[in-house]
Amino acid sequence: MRYYPVFLDLAHQPCVVLGDGKLAMEKAAALREAGAEVRVIPARNYKQGDLAGARLVFDASDDPAINRQSWEEAEAAGILINVVDRTAQCRFIAPAIVRRDPVLIAISTSGESPFLASALRARLERWLGREWGPFTELVGRIRRGLRERGVPIAEQTKVYRRLVRSELRELLRSGRGQEAEVLAASLARPGDHGGRVALVGAGPGDSDLITVKARDLLADADFVLHDALISPETLALCGPGAILEPVGKRGGGDSTGQDEITDRMIELARSGHFVVRLKGGDPFVFGRGGEELRDLIDAGIDVVVVPGVSSAVAAASSIGVPVTLRGVASSVAITTATGSDWPGRIRDLARASDTLVVLMCRANLAEVAAHVATAVGGSRPAAVVSKATWRDQRSVEGSIADIAQLADQAVIEAPATLIVGEVVGAVAAHILQAVAL
Ligand SMILES: C[S@@+](CC[C@H](N)C(=O)[O-])C[C@H]1O[C@@H](n2cnc3c(N)ncnc32)[C@H](O)[C@@H]1O
Repeated sequence: MRYYPVFLDLAHQPCVVLGDGKLAMEKAAALREAGAEVRVIPARNYKQGDLAGARLVFDASDDPAINRQSWEEAEAAGILINVVDRTAQCRFIAPAIVRRDPVLIAISTSGESPFLASALRARLERWLGREWGPFTELVGRIRRGLRERGVPIAEQTKVYRRLVRSELRELLRSGRGQEAEVLAASLARPGDHGGRVALVGAGPGDSDLITVKARDLLADADFVLHDALISPETLALCGPGAILEPVGKRGGGDSTGQDEITDRMIELARSGHFVVRLKGGDPFVFGRGGEELRDLIDAGIDVVVVPGVSSAVAAASSIGVPVTLRGVASSVAITTATGSDWPGRIRDLARASDTLVVLMCRANLAEVAAHVATAVGGSRPAAVVSKATWRDQRSVEGSIADIAQLADQAVIEAPATLIVGEVVGAVAAHILQAVAL
C-alpha cells in the first residue's frame, strides 16, 4: 500500500491554491469549508517563495513549468503538495468523500481510477442514508453522558450495541426525531434490557436477492438461527461477531424440532441478545414463520418480520415464466405436496387456478403430476425448477403428463418447485410467434 490515510485538521491553517480555473476554485472552497485560511495565487503570479509557511498546497495551474517549480519548492520546504493530475508530484492525494457529518468516509483507488472512486462514492451514498449524520450525533451525545457519569467501558459498549441495533435510524430517516430521542434515552440506561428477534426472509438462494433491511439486520445480529438451505454467500453477510446456529432440516437429515427453535429464540432474546431467525424465501410462505411469530409474541418477545422473495414466485421468474400474464393467467395458487390431504387439495387448486405452484414436491413429483393431470388433463404445460437462482439451477419443461419423467431424466434435485399452467412457455411462444410474423 503506497498511501497512509489521515484526516487533517486544517482549521486556521495557511494553505495555498495555485491556479485560477474551476478546479482551483473547487479546491479552495473545500479547504475553506474545513476552516483553512486559503490564499489563491493565479498561475501567472506565482513566484518562488510564495509557498513559504503553508501547511498544504494544491497546484491546479495545469502548467508544466509551474508544476515543476511548485513541487520543488514544496519538497524543499517539507510542505504537503498535490499537483493536480500528476500522481508522481503528489505528497498526498484527495479522496472521494461521502459526507454524513460528523461521519466522513474517504475513498481512494490510490490514483488508479478517479472514475471508480466516484462510482464507489455513489454506491456508498445510496447505502448510507442521511440519517447516519444525526444518528452519529445522538450516539456521540450519549457517549459523552456515559463518560461523564463514569460508566465502565463494558457497560458503555452494551449501550452502543443496543443503539446500533435499535430502530433509531429508521425513526431519524422518517423525521421522527422526538421519538428517536425518547428511545435513545431508554436504551442508554445501563442495566438489563430485553433482546429482540427478527424473522427474516433470505430469498430463494442468490445472496443478492436478500432485502437491504435483512442485510442490515444480519450485520448487527448476535445470533443467527438459520435454515439449512441458506447459501454460504448469504451467511457471509453476518457480522464478524455473530454466532451462527444451523437449525434447519435437509433432505430428511437431522434437524432441530420447532419447539426447540422457538425456545432457543426466547432464551436468547430474554438474555438480551439480538437474534435473527433466517429462513429461506419468505418466512411466512410455508416456512412456519407464522407459528414462530405467534409463540414469540405469546412469550412477550419484541419481534419484527422482514419479508423475503419467495421461491413460490422466484422459481417461475428465474426461468422467464410470469405466474400471471394478461389474457393467459389471472390467478395463482401456491401449495405443497405435504400433509395427508394434499392429493385432493392439489386437484381442487389445479381446477380453480390458472397457475398452480407446488412446493416440496420433488419426492412425490410423479404422484403430484398424475393428480394434476387427472384434474386438468395431461397436456397442460408444466415446469420444474430446482435450486432456482443458485449457481447450479436446473429446470425442465413439458406437459404435466411427462414432467416427472423429464425431471428424473435430467436428474432434477430438491429443493424444486413445480409450476403448472399456460404461462409456462407462453412468453417464449409469443416471442417465437413474433419472429415468425
Ligand atoms: C419449506 S418450503 C419453504 C419455502 C420458503 N419459505 C419460500 O418462501 O421460498 C421449501 C420448499 O420451497 C421450495 N424452494 C425453496 N428454495 C427453492 C429454490 N431455490 N428453487 C426451487 N424451489 C425452492 C422447494 O419446493 C422446497 O421444497
